[in-house]
Amino acid sequence: MAFRVLIDKKDLQIGETMVFDYTEVGIPRQGFLARLEDGWVAYENRCRHLPISLDMDDNQFFTRDKAYFFCQSHGALYEPQTGKCVQGPCAGAALKPIALIIQEHQIGLETED
Ligand code: FES
Repeated sequence: MAFRVLIDKKDLQIGETMVFDYTEVGIPRQGFLARLEDGWVAYENRCRHLPISLDMDDNQFFTRDKAYFFCQSHGALYEPQTGKCVQGPCAGAALKPIALIIQEHQIGLETED
């Protein structure tokens, strides 16, 4: 296992997101990192309704009021802090969390390398 830097904290503001690639058991995946008012979260970029990305490749995950993440296909709403779907066709399911390593100045994750 090795530490991989995703971003310097100063480069992502509250309410912003960034997409990143990672592997899980050797399988390529895509995740997204979000900065919330009270911390940082990351989830696999994969809706729980159908196996497609939430953002359709435009890095827009938050609703306009920043209260939820949303899926651009059918409008599912997910709680940013928990990843739980609270409205939409996958209500009750949850986004798959990605463990982050939060350092003083950087956000990263453990890699399988
Ligand atoms: S694919 Fe996300 S709500 Fe349908």
